[in-house]
Amino acid sequence: MTSYKELGLVNTREMFAKAVAGGYAIPAFNFNTLEQMQAIVQAAVETKSPVIMQVSKGARNYANGTILRYMAQGAVEYAKELGCENPQIVLHLDHGDSFELCKDCIDNGFSSVMIDGSALPYEENIALTKKVVEYAHKYDVTVEAELGVLAGVEDEVASEVSHYTKPEEVEDFSKRSGCDSLAISIGTSHGAYKFTPEQCTRDPKTGKLVPPPLAFDILHEIEKRLPGFPIVLHGSSSVPQDEVDTINAHGGKLPDAVGIPEEQLREASKSAVCKINIDSDSRLAMTAAIRKHFDEKPGDFDPRQYLKPARENMKKMYMHKIIDVLGSNDKL
Ligand code: G3H
Ligand code: 13P
Ligand code: ZN
Repeated sequence: MTSYKELGLVNTREMFAKAVAGGYAIPAFNFNTLEQMQAIVQAAVETKSPVIMQVSKGARNYANGTILRYMAQGAVEYAKELGCENPQIVLHLDHGDSFELCKDCIDNGFSSVMIDGSALPYEENIALTKKVVEYAHKYDVTVEAELGVLAGVEDEVASEVSHYTKPEEVEDFSKRSGCDSLAISIGTSHGAYKFTPEQCTRDPKTGKLVPPPLAFDILHEIEKRLPGFPIVLHGSSSVPQDEVDTINAHGGKLPDAVGIPEEQLREASKSAVCKINIDSDSRLAMTAAIRKHFDEKPGDFDPRQYLKPARENMKKMYMHKIIDVLGSNDKL
């Protein structure tokens, strides 16, 4: 058993309470590689922001769970080396799909886990979440649950409101499951294609796709029913048009990629939404920088030559999110 406390990591409890009270959100950035980890830590230290570093099942398969845990431990030490006396870094399991996976992470240094029972029938989601909470709380690890299903591009986001979280369920769910935070579905979705062109309108000036707005009425109803309770938004990448354009200008093919407009995430951050998940924007920032580099310097073959600008571009994106969208800067 390795406790996250020995590694200098923190759980989400205090950080979420401060974020809800302060009207800002904590960034939850996924990481799979050394360069993502370095860029996240540099951005968090330079902006004096708490940060959640999250690991998906896919990341564990790609990079090895043990290595990622040691990287998070390294992140704490790296933050100190960069001059941050008291880093607030959470190591979080993203989309845990079983008790066994959550337990394995809790036993191996994670300070927070998500148990995603959102695809299960309501009572089964409660039972599974409760089982994880009971184990996690013994070790002071915090638990994120999910209620409602995030729509994918294949779903009719604009019309399939039945996928949205039902506000009338949230009090019962949070009370009976004992979860510490709740991911809700109000129109965000994973990936770089969050909406089909048919679900969007076109800006007559730019010709770019304008996605349908998030369901803020549902968010506000949930806030009313669970005052001060930490709410999480998944699928919150903005899919920056300049990165998509750079990728497409240098041999990529991402037609009609579309994300969540930043002004809506800014608005959500001021509410009980206190954790905002961003993965795709990091992938886009990395890919855009690498494609541009390869195009401009075809003779380069030392990975450090193209991973350095990739890391710098991700850091710029992380800092922008922290300062200009989530408002978690200057909180350490
Ligand atoms: O929720 C999805 C995250 O973006 C992680 O994606 O499973 O491909 O690592 P992944
Ligand atoms: P994006 O695909 O919008 O970055 O969402 C990431 C996410 O929700 C990870 O859990
Ligand atoms: Zn997610």
